[in-house]
Amino acid sequence: MFSKPKEKAATEQMLDLDRIPAHIAIIMDGNGRWAKARHLPRIAGHQQGMQTVKKVTIAASDLGVKVLTLYAFSTENWKRPSSEVNFLMQLPIKFFDTFVPDLIKNNVRVMVMGDISALPAPTQKVVNQAIADTAHCTGMILNFALNYGGRDEIIRATKAIAKRVQTGDLTADNVDESVLSQAMMTGSLGDLADPDLLIRTSGEERLSNFMLWQLAYSEFVFVDQHWPDFDGESLKAAITTFQGRHRRFGGLENK
Ligand code: IPE
Ligand code: IPE
Ligand code: MG
Repeated sequence: MFSKPKEKAATEQMLDLDRIPAHIAIIMDGNGRWAKARHLPRIAGHQQGMQTVKKVTIAASDLGVKVLTLYAFSTENWKRPSSEVNFLMQLPIKFFDTFVPDLIKNNVRVMVMGDISALPAPTQKVVNQAIADTAHCTGMILNFALNYGGRDEIIRATKAIAKRVQTGDLTADNVDESVLSQAMMTGSLGDLADPDLLIRTSGEERLSNFMLWQLAYSEFVFVDQHWPDFDGESLKAAITTFQGRHRRFGGLENK
């Protein structure tokens, strides 16, 4: 009778649990606008956004995601009013104080990328404690980008490589993609360093200095929801969209 449409709309498709992206990175955006729409102060949006982090972490872990990288604070976010920056610096304390037992229960290991030495001492302490408390966990890696900038990361990697060349540990000719990948803040993730899927909430369609090296061949999914409204279902919808994409990595389609 009728021929089937070649491609169903992403939302009609079923999530394929055998093809869950190994590394998902999320630019958690729209907290301020979420709050503004409710006539609340911006920090109320950040507070609510923290609850979303908890929900989405568990949802991703349940789906079998191997690495979930969350952009929490950029190297440019210091430009915001100090009251907002101060609140954002307190958030990891609130988050880890209540959530580390759940992370352990779900076998989730915490990792951080970014210059945490610039964070207030109590924030650094709680972050390092969470990393230590979950060091034995073998399930999903929850990687927070905190005071992270993609350009800052590239500069640091370049300096580290230049120093190795200076000391004779490496020759300039031997600098290749693998050397640079290992020098990045995701170096310890090995084959999992590059996100398969990048999600940005709030309708903005830009990278805002996020993972400039690692996102070279990632699939981008932009969703209109503000971060506090995002949830496990939104994550599944984004993964379903990802599963409808055809990644080619510069080659020809492998179907
Ligand atoms: C994302 O929400 C959280 C951080 C950048 C820390 P925003 O605070 O950027 O919210 P909008 O984009 O102003 O709505
Ligand atoms: C990116 O969002 C940073 C984080 C989500 C932590 P921003 O809200 O800071 O990005 P711009 O300023 O809109 O590009
Ligand atoms: Mg924003």
